[in-house]
Amino acid sequence: MPGFSTRAVQVGQASDPLTGAVVPPIVLASTFQLDGIEGAPDRYNYSRSGNPTRDRYQEALASLESGAGAVAFPSGLNAEDTLVRVLTRPGDTILCGHDVYAGTGRMFTWILPREGRSTHRVSMANLDEVRTAFEETHARVLWLETPSNPLLELSDIEALSTVAHEYGAWVVVDNTFATPVFQRPIELGADIVIHSTTKYIGGHSDHVGGAAIFAPDLHLPDDGLSGSDDVLHEVRWWQNAIGSVPGAFDSWLAHRGLRTLVVRVQRSAATAQRVAEALTEVPQISQVWYPGLPTHPGHDIAARQMSGFGGVISFELDSPELARKVSESTQLLRLAASLGAAESLIEYPYAMTHASMASTTNPAPDKLVRLAIGLEDPEDLIADIIQAVEKAYR
Ligand SMILES: Cc1ncc(COP(=O)(O)O)c(C=O)c1O
Repeated sequence: MPGFSTRAVQVGQASDPLTGAVVPPIVLASTFQLDGIEGAPDRYNYSRSGNPTRDRYQEALASLESGAGAVAFPSGLNAEDTLVRVLTRPGDTILCGHDVYAGTGRMFTWILPREGRSTHRVSMANLDEVRTAFEETHARVLWLETPSNPLLELSDIEALSTVAHEYGAWVVVDNTFATPVFQRPIELGADIVIHSTTKYIGGHSDHVGGAAIFAPDLHLPDDGLSGSDDVLHEVRWWQNAIGSVPGAFDSWLAHRGLRTLVVRVQRSAATAQRVAEALTEVPQISQVWYPGLPTHPGHDIAARQMSGFGGVISFELDSPELARKVSESTQLLRLAASLGAAESLIEYPYAMTHASMASTTNPAPDKLVRLAIGLEDPEDLIADIIQAVEKAYR
């Protein structure tokens, strides 16, 4: 099998046989002409059910995440919602860490309980606590986000997958922050990987999308609505049945993002390491959270299961007011939600990306600032953050 970078550039990207175009054309057609009323199993029929541009992209995603297949969705949250519905039934519980993206937290806290599904929060760093939670809740799914958003907490995918499988549960890993360049959860024992492709995979702040990638041979305990017990088959059936498909242009944008993913995330992580180290020297900053710092509580796990530490850094100041002020005082880093793009962003999670959890028992810390490091020169970013900190304290 060709190497990772080769696959990132080549899989699903063969030149167009008709014209020789080295970038395959985007198939925008909503419907396809049939030879007969039944169509043919190897031909397209209608773009909600299948589309060549989407299929090429899904093939590349599956290859990079070492999965048996991938399904693309219109957003990361839509991928999560669909998965949860396929993997659980009313009455089932999901185990999830304390620190996860607030959109995931919002869905778990308010939407799933309306349908009889519940979430139980545990510390993923404590395997005994996870075991006890399985004993008490008989959870069907272990939901890991590692590194987590916004505190960059690390979960040991291999150890936790072993525990979850002892209890017959599925392991889902949100790999948005790490990307398959730095971490491949299926190789570590996870069952399903999800992404907000809005972030590093799209990579340019011009795409909203999600994806789920499946380990081989995943089987539901009963036949699903599709009449099959195969999870990938059931998710595809479900997606077509409820119509949660990404458009061809979004699929194409994300697939284009995969071609440069390796160099983008490597550069971003190298810069983030330098920025994080520089921030530890700033006296006004009380705490820097970055997995690449040896002082980070998850550093050892990160060094073991990731080949790079990613491009997101969080840091804490002395008060919420100062954290807000710093977030509003950079000139180069833009005040905006999201991450994973060429331009660096700064945000105040408590009142921005994580505002929906502010009133719950799992809010983002209110003195925390989050940075999404992009592709600019490290010196410029460091100077900009330091001037913002100095301005806030003036
Ligand atoms: C870790 C993580 N997972 C999932 C999502 C949700 O993805 P989307 O915004 O594409 O729906 C986000 C969004 O910020 C995220 O950061």
